Amino acid sequence: MTEAVERPLRDPSLRRSLTLFRAFLRERTDPDRCYSLLARDAVAQVARHTDLRGRIVLDVGGGPGHFTEEFRRRGAHAYLFEPDPRELGARGRPPQGAVVADGYLLPVPDAVADVCFTSNVLEHVADPQTFLSELVRVTRPGGLVYVSFTNWLSPWGGHEMAPWHYLGASRARERHRRRTGREAKHTVGENLFPVHIGPTLRQVRAREDVRVVSARSRYWPVLPSAVTRIPGLREFATWNLLLILRRTGAPETPVGTQARPSEARS
Ligand SMILES: C[S@@+](CC[C@H](N)C(=O)[O-])C[C@H]1O[C@@H](n2cnc3c(N)ncnc32)[C@H](O)[C@@H]1O
Repeated sequence: MTEAVERPLRDPSLRRSLTLFRAFLRERTDPDRCYSLLARDAVAQVARHTDLRGRIVLDVGGGPGHFTEEFRRRGAHAYLFEPDPRELGARGRPPQGAVVADGYLLPVPDAVADVCFTSNVLEHVADPQTFLSELVRVTRPGGLVYVSFTNWLSPWGGHEMAPWHYLGASRARERHRRRTGREAKHTVGENLFPVHIGPTLRQVRAREDVRVVSARSRYWPVLPSAVTRIPGLREFATWNLLLILRRTGAPETPVGTQARPSEARS
């Protein structure tokens, strides 16, 4: 493993953005390196807002479990919930205790999680607000919800069909089929949905059960929060929106002074 994988890079910084981007360009040939790096980076982002040791973390739509494993490496009790058994088994054996479950209906009681984490899932669900409500339900008051997603007008919004999604979903899909001889993995309206930055921010800010701790571009190397404040431009330039939300309902405890969590009731 390289040093970049061992230690998260300063965030934001040009070096970090370039390292993540280079790993992403090699995602097909070296997915483990790409996702391990991304997991280390994302978990470090969470750790800036809460101690992880002994905390209960739910990784919703976590695929084969890179993020769950990184949370565990940092001392959290992390649980993976993933509805697609193929994703879960993409690296062979999934992490111990992984559960095949849909993020709309998590099989856990209310307020069980210290951190509810979901990376790059929101654009894959038809009803992002209901999905988000379920993440909030399972998070304890004072706990954190980490949500990141690639918005539709991002240069990567069309995923493997990008940037041709700017010409429309069906043209992008048709072009992908023509060029590669294969169907695209994603079909807009089935497993990929246009989600936008402005409406998402407005909906989240209107909620009374969460407070927005951070709204920023996940990968942008400079002023990552500023870019999300400029209507119009933010839909193209944010690339991937990262929201860190705090569940309201109880006084917040500063980092480093939290009591150990009670056991999960699941
Ligand atoms: C692009 S992958 C992201 C995987 C991982 N979280 C990451 O950031 O690399 C999207 C994941 O969302 C999952 N997913 C789709 N619909 C979901 C739902 N309703 N509830 C939970 N996960 C869902 C998919 O099965 C897939 O594993």
